[in-house]
Amino acid sequence: MTNIEMKFLPKQPLEMHKVRIVQKLHLLPLEKRLEAIAKAGNNTFLLKNEDVFLDMLTDSGVNAMSDQQLASMMIADDAYAGSATYYKLEDKVTSLFGLPFFLPAHQGRACEHIIAKTLVKPGMRVPMNYHFTTTKSHIVLQGGEVDELVIDEGLKLQSTHPFKGNMDLEKLRKYFSQYPKEKIAFLRMEAGTNLIGGQPFSLANIREVVSMCQKHGIITVLDASLLQDNLYFIKKREEAEKHKSIKELTKEICSLFDIVYFSARKLGFAKGGGLALKDKDLYERMKELVPLYEGFLTYGGMSVKEMEAIAVGLDETMDEEVINQGPEFIAYMVEALEKHGVPVVTPPGGLGCHLDAKSFLPHVPQTEYPAGALASALYIVSGIRGMERGTMSEQREPDGRERLAEVELLRLALPRRVFTLSQVNYAIDRIVWLYNHRHLVGGLKFVKEPDILRFFFGELNPSSPWQKQLAEAFQKDFGKSL
Ligand SMILES: Cc1ncc(COP(=O)(O)O)c(C=O)c1O
Repeated sequence: MTNIEMKFLPKQPLEMHKVRIVQKLHLLPLEKRLEAIAKAGNNTFLLKNEDVFLDMLTDSGVNAMSDQQLASMMIADDAYAGSATYYKLEDKVTSLFGLPFFLPAHQGRACEHIIAKTLVKPGMRVPMNYHFTTTKSHIVLQGGEVDELVIDEGLKLQSTHPFKGNMDLEKLRKYFSQYPKEKIAFLRMEAGTNLIGGQPFSLANIREVVSMCQKHGIITVLDASLLQDNLYFIKKREEAEKHKSIKELTKEICSLFDIVYFSARKLGFAKGGGLALKDKDLYERMKELVPLYEGFLTYGGMSVKEMEAIAVGLDETMDEEVINQGPEFIAYMVEALEKHGVPVVTPPGGLGCHLDAKSFLPHVPQTEYPAGALASALYIVSGIRGMERGTMSEQREPDGRERLAEVELLRLALPRRVFTLSQVNYAIDRIVWLYNHRHLVGGLKFVKEPDILRFFFGELNPSSPWQKQLAEAFQKDFGKSL
């Protein structure tokens, strides 16, 4: 892995690419940012991209493509059935993952739909290290329930544990003695566990988990959407695995599982998704759903251009010089914020830098969505768009009570190969300013609240006139033009 030492400057991450196509950005002045966030109902999902300076909402579908990917798109074989591009992608996925069968799908949640529809029956349960929003919704829609068995350390936001995404083996043992095999639809492990701050599992942990499932006859599923960051952390933090190449690790991890699915909006630097399977019977059952919900079996809802780009992107994802880019930029951001006392999730994970909103805004109750309020405040003072990952992202209990999230995070995603170090430095500077003025930030309350996935479309108002006070303090320090 590249880790180039500096002689005269402090250590910093280094881009292993050069920029050949750029997109112009705009930083709206403060009063326009106030207007834009009010119009978006204080929900960063509802901001127009043209009103955003640095878009750190997600890494999904917004990673930068390489010249090789763009070139491959020009030779895509356009056919409804039997496209050569499809067979190229099938071959790439099955050979990298070490599993014999492949099914295409238009993105990660489409794979979750197919898995849940095939395996979950009403009353069944799905144990996992930690849930992801769309995964949980698909399981619940089929009448199932999700049980999270991540290690306790996983929910401690400030920690030194290298693998906070690990499954708690003792909890899993108890779980298997509590529920009979027939009640358990499948077990799911998520690589680079998204909602707890992009935290990895260790290879030792998943070996144990899979072996326990095999003893109990439970189907195992890997969500590999964030596998690339997890691979980096295994190689960096797991002593016994350091000598293995990224490709060796990928095959070893994936071939442990019965089903591996991924969002190619993340893994593969393009747009699409797919499932790799070990078992012919399961493959046949899931295959029937692809033409019904996705598209014919040789494209599954993806354009052939994107399929070409995924095939190349998967190889780039496994490149020993590319894999470290995301995690090293994230570690730089986390460590710089920590130095200024800003509460962040540690150790640094993959996907992005995560601000601990409960500690950042201890005066904002969870019922007023501290992570959502922080997202709104950060947009106001910087034009940066982050994503709330807390109580707003939960669904209410059937009786209407709030389900308070275990962690309240503002996720600042660093899509791969997109931001420069000076843009990351700008983000750090504005976050530190906001932290020093945190007493000015108040809460939010819903004015429009959808029943399902409310964080996508819900609209909120500030629960007091705090945004005006924050803007005045900002103007005092930075002047009108910023
Ligand atoms: C871990 C994980 N699984 C599944 C998904 C869903 O993938 P998609 O956005 O392609 O539907 C995501 C997307 O963010 C994710 O992070």
